[in-house]
Amino acid sequence: LRSPGKGWLWVSLKGQARATSLLPLPSRYLLYDVNPPEGFNLRRDVYIRVASLLKTLLKTEEWVLVLPPWGRLCHWQSPDIHQVRIPWSDFFDLPSLNRNIPVVEYEQFIAGEAAEVVVRTHVHLGFTGFLCENQRTEAPGILFSRGWFWGYEETRALNVSCLSVQGSASIMAPVLLRNTSARSVMLDRAENLLHDHYGGKEYWDTRRSMVFAKHLRAVGDEFRSKYLNSTDEADRIPFEEDWTKMKVKLGSSLGGPYLAVHLRRKDFIWGHREDVPSLDGAVKKIRGLMKTHQLDKVFVATDAVRKGTWLRLRPRPTHREGGLCVTVPRGRFFIGTSVSTFSFRIHEEREILGLDPRTTYNRFCGDLEEACEQPTHWKVAY
Ligand SMILES: *[C@@H]1O[C@H](CO)[C@@H](O)[C@H](O)[C@H]1NC(C)=O
Ligand SMILES: *[C@@H]1O[C@H](CO)[C@@H](O)[C@H](O)[C@H]1NC(C)=O
Ligand SMILES: *[C@@H]1O[C@H](CO)[C@@H](O)[C@H](O)[C@H]1NC(C)=O
Repeated sequence: LRSPGKGWLWVSLKGQARATSLLPLPSRYLLYDVNPPEGFNLRRDVYIRVASLLKTLLKTEEWVLVLPPWGRLCHWQSPDIHQVRIPWSDFFDLPSLNRNIPVVEYEQFIAGEAAEVVVRTHVHLGFTGFLCENQRTEAPGILFSRGWFWGYEETRALNVSCLSVQGSASIMAPVLLRNTSARSVMLDRAENLLHDHYGGKEYWDTRRSMVFAKHLRAVGDEFRSKYLNSTDEADRIPFEEDWTKMKVKLGSSLGGPYLAVHLRRKDFIWGHREDVPSLDGAVKKIRGLMKTHQLDKVFVATDAVRKGTWLRLRPRPTHREGGLCVTVPRGRFFIGTSVSTFSFRIHEEREILGLDPRTTYNRFCGDLEEACEQPTHWKVAY
């Protein structure tokens, strides 16, 4: 609830319309979206870029980032699960995100702004004139013709502009600070913005703030302990509820007694033929690694067609595939798939958990290659 004309937000808990706390309303809101076909793990990376822009804005004005709801991602293959308008809290721990930058869920945002047109300025970011031309056909102030917009069809913008950008996220800061005074600004196609400082302290702070939600961690922990004889304690994996207090020594963690594998198939087989092994090739590699590292269990995250007996971490409606993200990074040794964003996120997670880089930056080679170039090692900057 907002008192008219005043910058105060009344928070009501459990339906009771009483002010439990008064939060100052920020002056401005930043919203963003990503090209619809992009998957969960690229979107996690775009969040880091936009968070960096928000940090730049915060040096001048108060801004809050509105978290774009998740939905209908093509890699999510549980058709039985409701997959639109998914809040970030289903996957991430909001207090942890908030320790890095101020964020609100979209639902929270529209609850505060509902009476007005939601998005004041919609900036469409693209590299080419083509996108701009398409966008211009939509007159300012009309309902977005795009049928799906974070799963909310009623999203409207008062002003629409189109920008051709080529550069890091913070090049948007002067535009947002000076060229528009709109209270809420939405950046569409935010994946066109590049990292400000890839691999720097700011990058890692945001990355470390993306702590998985408690319920996901619980599913992962339960599964690990039940089937993989693995607990953070036994695996010497440190964890602090407050990520800002966590400082791990690289290589100090042991990891669970299993080989963790990310094996991408489907579209990857076509797009990256030389870099992705056949299933037989992958099995051979997996057996070899289990022998070398004396591991008798393997956890495979894959979209491959199921053959034989597999123990599955079945996503429940509130857990979804995200539960995988907790189990895979904690294996004693990890091998991933070339240029997969899922594998990249696992590398980062293992880095944050303090596992030895030699057990992290590994990938499958194509069948025809004996050895192939291995992923780059990125070190956490504190
Ligand atoms: C922003 O404003 C400046 C100064 O008025 C102008 O030169 C620039 O072209 C504007 N940028 C955009 C993206 O509108
Ligand atoms: C929309 O754009 C017009 C013309 O540039 C401007 O006069 C108006 O103030 C803008 N509205 C908002 C809400 O920014
Ligand atoms: C489980 O791991 C512990 C060491 O953490 C080991 O002592 C125990 O034998 C393991 N149990 C099984 C069933 O492998």
